[in-house]
Formats: sequence, structure tokens, C-alpha cells
Amino acid sequence: MNDHAFMGRALELAALGQYTTDPNPRVGSVVVRDGNIVGEGAHWSAGAPHAEIHALQAAGDLARGATVYITLEPCSHHGRTPPCADALLAAGVGRVVVAMQDPNPLVSGRGLERLRAAGIAVDTGVLEFEARALNPGFVRRMHSGRPWVRVKLASSLDGRTAMASGESKWITGPAARRDVQHWRARAGAILTGSGTVLADDPHLTVRLSPAELLADRGIDPTRYPELKDMPIRQPLRVVVDSQLQMPRGARLLDGGPVLVLTSAARADSEKADELRRRGAEVTALAPHATSDTLGQLHGRGPEGLGIPEPVASDALGGFQGQGAEELAVTGWAADQPPDAGRQDDELTVMTGEQDSRLDLSAVLDLLGERGVNELHVEAGSGLAGALARWGLVDEWLFYLAPCLMGSGARPLLDWPLQQMAERAELDVFACDWVGDALRLRAYPLPASTV
Ligand SMILES: NC(=O)c1ccc[n+]([C@@H]2O[C@H](COP(=O)([O-])OP(=O)(O)OC[C@H]3O[C@@H](n4cnc5c(N)ncnc54)[C@H](OP(=O)(O)O)[C@@H]3O)[C@@H](O)[C@H]2O)c1
Repeated sequence: MNDHAFMGRALELAALGQYTTDPNPRVGSVVVRDGNIVGEGAHWSAGAPHAEIHALQAAGDLARGATVYITLEPCSHHGRTPPCADALLAAGVGRVVVAMQDPNPLVSGRGLERLRAAGIAVDTGVLEFEARALNPGFVRRMHSGRPWVRVKLASSLDGRTAMASGESKWITGPAARRDVQHWRARAGAILTGSGTVLADDPHLTVRLSPAELLADRGIDPTRYPELKDMPIRQPLRVVVDSQLQMPRGARLLDGGPVLVLTSAARADSEKADELRRRGAEVTALAPHATSDTLGQLHGRGPEGLGIPEPVASDALGGFQGQGAEELAVTGWAADQPPDAGRQDDELTVMTGEQDSRLDLSAVLDLLGERGVNELHVEAGSGLAGALARWGLVDEWLFYLAPCLMGSGARPLLDWPLQQMAERAELDVFACDWVGDALRLRAYPLPASTV
């Protein structure tokens, strides 16, 4: 076996923590001596020992002179646990191989420096892409302060997500709905809209344990005793509800933490107090800003795809009728692309009236501050469409069911584009059958390439 194979095993171990480590990253480690694995470890939950500490403990004296593979740079600071770089030095390891540096700019590189300064051979970048892909939310939050936004939508083959009446149970079968449990469980928070709460009265809870979820993904949980009693972690469920329309008796209010985001006026109301008495946190957020909108329009492509260029003014058509009542747009037309180097090409969007709807960028900032790495969105065409229009989607998770729902049914997204040039292109990077549904995973492509 070579470096890649041992790091591959460390990544498998890291993935064991995908439902439990939040807000920490998923990390795995193996200790290798004379070509054999003599110790393995995974990080299981925040506050618990880091993966390399488990692996060193399992290896015992065999760690001396061994090579240690870790999917993330070892820490060099005192957090909830002592620095792992010190533990590696104390164990007398001979070489350390790391998949990726810690993306936290305050930490990045220091753990590696500490090892190198002590004379340890250090190699980095082995299976780095895979290590980053396992932790998109942690990487995104460390870089931007916001979570990785994954929007799930189940639709018919003609792209419909609910009947005109709002009825949508069930478009997909039990296999796809069980698969959705995996994505909810990975997330630090689940975001929905007032429309979905009113129409479906969903729970939006995780109902499978980490052991059951891993078994669904072909991992034998009995190999890992730590998993046996690992409880279900309920992500924070978040409702965007500027008018505080959600019913007092909503099922969402049962079964775990709930955050209701609303306007300042509604946050200070009797209805808000009733929701609080039912255990919800009700917090006021500002409505959309009247300018500085272009920043929101910049798509936030996945790591590695780069930050897209500003979209052309044509793409703003989608804002009309969406709360931005009177748009005055200065900037460039689609057929007159800006000079990339000029600051004064900035596009300004001003609304004649303040949009009463919540600023979705502020929603992401708030959730990032609360340590949410991955945000799973299960909403209707209203909220999903708004996130798309504002360039806030990092990943799409589509389930296409083998049925047709007709032209009266609701679309995937409230996003009234007018011209082909405005269409949003996607990079579909995974396509799998889940029961009788086709599951597509896609990244939005940078607006500049559309
Ligand atoms: N097929 C699926 O995967 C799926 C998943 C979930 C739901 N659904 C179906 O979707 C239907 C509900 O869809 P819906 O569109 O009515 O509800 P929704 O998307 O759940 O809720 C609409 C939300 O969008 C927000 N919103 C709209 N434009 C906005 C903007 N520009 N800025 C900020 N927030 C904005 C609204 O905020 P305010 O409350 O502040 O106005 C509201 O929270 C139901 O029939 C449900 O069954 C289908």
C-alpha cells in the first residue's frame, strides 16, 4: 500500500463522523508501521479527542517512528482538547502525511510548521480534493463565515414540486425519502420557508441514528463500537417567516431546536411570544438592503470552481415582482461586458420601496456565526427560487420522480427568467438511482460562463 491507499482509509474513517462532528470537521487518521496499519481513529464529536489521538492510542508504542496519515492538518492550539501536533511529537512519530491544511486562516499551516520545526518529515496534499469534498461546509465557513448551502428539491419529470393546491405528498417514494434523511443528518441546520410550514406542516427531523445512516451507505456499524450508542443529533430547524405566519401548533415545534427568523415588528408580538413559549427561538432579521445588491448576485460557486464574475444587468429581471418593486439599474448590458479591471463597473440596484422580505445573505451570516457548516434547504419554489436568484446556492440535490404533474402544478423555482442568456447552467457531478427516483447532484456554474 502507498500514501494514497492509507489516506483513502483515513478518509473512510473521517466519513464515519459525518453525522456527529458538527461544528467540527470530519477527520480520520491511521498509523502505519512497516507497511501495516497499527492504529486507526476518527473524530466522533466536538469535545471528544481528535482522530489522530485515537489512532496514536490504538497504536501505543508502535507509533514510535511510524507514519501517521491525517485527513486534516493537526491542530497546534489549545481548544477543547490539547494540541495534536504536541501529541504526535510526544509519540515520537517519524513522518506525518496530511490531506489538507486547516482552512481556518488563523490556524492554517501552524500545526505543520510545528512538526517540521521538530524535524518530522511532513507531506501534504495527498487526496486533498477528497478531503475537501468531505467537509465542504467547514471549508466554506472558515473562508467566508457562511455555511455551504445545499438545496434539495423533489420534482416530477416535468419539473413540478407541488400541485397548485400546495399538495405535494408524496412525489418521491420511500427510498428517496429515506435518502433525504442522510442529507438532513449531515447538516448543521435545515432551512425551510413559511409556505412549506403552512402547506405541509412538516417535522423536518432526523429519524435515523448515525449507525443506521452509515449502514444505509454500505458501512458495517458493528465494526465501530463508538457508533452503537451514538444518539441522533437534531440539526437546528430554521424558518424564514417575515410575517410570522407559521401556526402556533406547527409540528416543527416538536422534536428539537427551532429558530424562526422574522421582521423586527413581528419578533416583538404576542404571536412571537407564543412561539417562544413552545420552545422556539424567534429572532428579528433585517429586510433586504436597498443597495449593495450586486454582492448578493455574485454566485458562490463550490470550492475549486472559483468566484464567478458579476452577472449582467439582464439577469436582474427576476427581481421584478419579487419584492424589489422599482428597480433602477446602472451598470452594463449583457452585450456590453464590463472591463474586468475597472472598479466603476460595479452594478448598483436600488429599490424604490424597501423589500419587506428577509435578507437571505444575513440569514447565512447568522447561521455561519452559529457554527453551521452545511445548510440543508427543504423549501418550496418561493424560498428555493429566492436563494437561486440571489446566487446563494452552492449545491443542488434533485430527486426526479417518474411521474408528470402537469402545467397547473408549481415549478421548481420561482425565478422568472426571460432569455436563454439568463439561464443558469449547472455542473452535474453525480447521478444515481435511489429507488425509482433519479438523484442528481449539481453545482451552479459561475455566472460568467453562462
Ligand atoms: N418538492 C419539494 O422538494 C418540496 C419541498 C418543500 C416544499 N414543497 C412544496 O412547496 C410548497 C410551498 O412552496 P412556497 O414557495 O409556497 O413556500 P416556501 O418556499 O417554503 O416559502 C416561501 C418562502 O420564501 C420566502 N421568500 C420568497 N421570496 C423571498 C425573497 N426574495 N427574499 C427572502 N425570502 C423570500 C418567504 O419569506 P416570507 O415568509 O418572509 O415571505 C417564505 O419563507 C408546498 O406546497 C410544499 O408542499 C415541495
